[in-house]
Amino acid sequence: MGIIIAIDGPAGSGKSTTARLVADQLGYVYIDTGAMYRAVTLAAIRRGIAFTNRALGVLVKTINIQLEQSPNGQRTLLDGIDVSKEIRMPEITKHVSEVSASPEVREAMVHEQRRIGKKGGVVMDGRDIGTVVFPHADLKVFMTASIDIRAERRAEELQSKGIVTSASDIAIEIEERDNLDSNRATSPLIKAPDARILDTTSLSLQEQSDMIKNWAMEIINKTSNNKDI
Ligand code: DC
Repeated sequence: MGIIIAIDGPAGSGKSTTARLVADQLGYVYIDTGAMYRAVTLAAIRRGIAFTNRALGVLVKTINIQLEQSPNGQRTLLDGIDVSKEIRMPEITKHVSEVSASPEVREAMVHEQRRIGKKGGVVMDGRDIGTVVFPHADLKVFMTASIDIRAERRAEELQSKGIVTSASDIAIEIEERDNLDSNRATSPLIKAPDARILDTTSLSLQEQSDMIKNWAMEIINKTSNNKDI
């Protein structure tokens, strides 16, 4: 058991690293929902499928995406094969917003995300977790940061994986993706009215995760006190 923590925000706001740390500290499961949209994009590219809602709708019914917990973090399996590395390639990043705008793709992914998270004890990050996937999540956080700092963080993250790109190129890509993710018709990236805003521009990873962990502990304690009465 445990509460549901929804973390949304734009690319590079620090969601995944922070969410993983919070999950570790609370003994919760961390779910990176972006990985699922990336796996669909990988499958579409491999099969040469057009990014139309119709074609993608057929595709999602024929593929199997699983998220597995491992000591090194979440592993993403596409039809039983580990594609955790492949889904981070620039080619996938370039097309993922287009694929994730498909209502059919979203419906299938949201269904799976609800199945995984409904029992609680999860920290789930994405773009629509607090608005669509779990609108009644116990704690909702909307993470933001300046575009410059987001681009710098992404560049460092990619460099650590051996992919070299400049922060200025990444800033352009991030802004394009923000634009597509925030303006699509189905479940755009928006802050849920009851989400707490966490601007991470000048915060360290430790400060970010402590902040969310403290908010979570307040809610967890309140819930258990209410049960005791
Ligand atoms: O978090 P990320 O950068 O790995 O996400 C990749 C893309 O997937 C992102 O640009 C938009 C999409 N996405 C989404 O539409 N809804 C989510 N819950 C998570 C990701």
